[in-house]
Amino acid sequence: MRIFLTGATGYVGSAVLDALVRAGHDVTALVRDNEKARRVAARGGHPAIGNLADIESYRGAADAQDGYVHTAFDYVSGRGPAVERAALEMMISSANRPRTAGPRATESRFVIYTSGTWILGRTPEPAFEDAPVNPIALASFRPEHERLVLDAAGPRLRTAVVRPGVVYGAGAGMVGDIFKAAANGLVRVIGDGNNHWPAVYDRDLADLYARVAARDDASGIFHANDEGDERVNDIVEAVAGHLPVRPDVRNVPLDEARAKMGAYADALSLDQIVRSHRARALGWTPTLHSIAGNAARLLHEWRGAREEVRTS
Ligand SMILES: NC(=O)c1ccc[n+]([C@@H]2O[C@H](COP(=O)([O-])OP(=O)(O)OC[C@H]3O[C@@H](n4cnc5c(N)ncnc54)[C@H](OP(=O)(O)O)[C@@H]3O)[C@@H](O)[C@H]2O)c1
Repeated sequence: MRIFLTGATGYVGSAVLDALVRAGHDVTALVRDNEKARRVAARGGHPAIGNLADIESYRGAADAQDGYVHTAFDYVSGRGPAVERAALEMMISSANRPRTAGPRATESRFVIYTSGTWILGRTPEPAFEDAPVNPIALASFRPEHERLVLDAAGPRLRTAVVRPGVVYGAGAGMVGDIFKAAANGLVRVIGDGNNHWPAVYDRDLADLYARVAARDDASGIFHANDEGDERVNDIVEAVAGHLPVRPDVRNVPLDEARAKMGAYADALSLDQIVRSHRARALGWTPTLHSIAGNAARLLHEWRGAREEVRTS
């Protein structure tokens, strides 16, 4: 299939690009500059240079695709939610545009939106895909964007929302930050650390996107986590045990953390038990089920990623 992908140079999107290319799709990826275009081409994608915030810069590249996968997010400009909404509207309208010619003119198309489990808020009891939403501040825009995508479904358009948990692997993200802090000798844990993170390995997450893209019956909301139900303390303890020098661990009260890092503190201290039954019903089986249980391997990945950045 011909698939338009946003965010292909990001943490989630680069794994998704690899999975889609591996599955044999023809992936056009939005990138911001030539250097990123080279990186995407080296991974087997077709780069299209543009900016998510400037719809006209990529409207042409997004035209006449069979599927649209949105994993980009603009964290920097302060206009992330507005930029995302406009991008989603454009992709939905491109997906709905009638095609006049070609063998695929009458086939259905799909749009996959990347949301996240923070939309659920605190959920110490297992939350399934039909659980009511109660977003933390950082995810306050998500319900509206999920609805926009889900409500766009029609006879010729299949739409899906993927809600990843905390992504791990490749040395990045919140778990990569723990590796970095631990290697530097001090890990700050927000709150008492007994909160659970609903985690997912980056390559397993990407495999779910490839499944949702390929399955005509895959629509609606898909949670994506390994169901390991690990506490932050378990993760930190496992990482600490694999380092030559044990780091110090300091528990930072939530109020103090909020004063320093704002709403992100609430995300780090969120207690979430999440279930991914709809993804599993597609045959999705995560290959990794635990951060703590794979700490040595993940530490190795983190060191590899750090080395790659240092030498590039
Ligand atoms: N990481 C997680 O643990 C996690 C968990 C749940 C949900 N999510 C969600 O998944 C999505 C992606 O997260 P991520 O961790 O992959 O973030 P990321 O690593 O920062 O990647 C963001 C991507 O968006 C692209 N982008 C940003 N602004 C753009 C613009 N104006 N024009 C074109 N491209 C732009 C970036 O391109 P550049 O390379 O040019 O910067 C990059 O490819 C977000 O919605 C996030 O909330 C992430």
